[in-house]
Amino acid sequence: MTTPLLAATELCKSFGRLPAVNHVSLTVAAGSITGLIGPNGAGKTTLFNLLAGSLRPDSGQVLFQNQVITGLPQHRVVRRGLVRTFQVARVFSRLSVLENVLLAAPGQLGEQVWPLWLQPQRVAQQERQLRQEAMDILASVGLAAKAQDYAGALSGGQRKLLEMARALMTRPQLMLLDEPAAGVNPTLINQMCEYIQAWNQAGITFLIIEHNMDVIMSLCQQVWVLAEGKNLAVGTPGEIQTNPTVLAAYLGGGEEEQK
Ligand SMILES: Nc1ncnc2c1ncn2[C@@H]1O[C@H](COP(=O)(O)OP(=O)(O)O)[C@@H](O)[C@H]1O
Ligand SMILES: [Mg+2]
Repeated sequence: MTTPLLAATELCKSFGRLPAVNHVSLTVAAGSITGLIGPNGAGKTTLFNLLAGSLRPDSGQVLFQNQVITGLPQHRVVRRGLVRTFQVARVFSRLSVLENVLLAAPGQLGEQVWPLWLQPQRVAQQERQLRQEAMDILASVGLAAKAQDYAGALSGGQRKLLEMARALMTRPQLMLLDEPAAGVNPTLINQMCEYIQAWNQAGITFLIIEHNMDVIMSLCQQVWVLAEGKNLAVGTPGEIQTNPTVLAAYLGGGEEEQK
């Protein structure tokens, strides 16, 4: 077996006395679309926070591209090629759609004083290239026509796409998507799945939290299941759907989350 792109080992994170993530291990194969499911409160988002550097684990290790990234802050994790989106999309409502994407661009010369002063032409050229890249990414999520609109004017589903566009602008190897389909209309969900597949074909690996099992079934090669902060199962979507332990966890674990 080849080395996974991402490998988390025995991650733990407690909030007070509540162990939200309890000795969780998980791998994501390079080039795959991998699923992460589990009942409400299972620890999925907390696990994303630990993987992406928004939270420091109490113990355990995260390896990305064979390097330890445990406890690195989010901006440094992003620079290494691992980026995440949020369960409730975070966009800057008062900025244009294009500006939202441009803000995510890596290492802009224009942010530094010396290049701006000494090489204004190079800075201008880089800005043109980044604008083009951002427009190409917006076109790839069907938002090119909205580039100049305020991000606040987008629908919930379009905001999720914008957040993905921003994540793409960081030129990631691995994208963690937290419930991309939640609250999105069925037509847009289908489009979103096609976009994700196209980006995956272009070389980006995905780890996706999702309650919509149609999305998981159509996209994922492997699915990890968490329940009550612990690993419960792993397998193909077909195996997971018929796994009695998984079914029991969902039936016992309260109603499905829809937020
Ligand atoms: N910042 C926090 N402070 C306190 N408790 C939290 C925090 N974040 C999550 N939790 C708790 O940790 C558990 C796991 O939450 P979460 O990771 O959001 O689950 P999921 O994403 O699977 O629904 C829940 O009991 C939740 O209330
Ligand atoms: Mg969550």
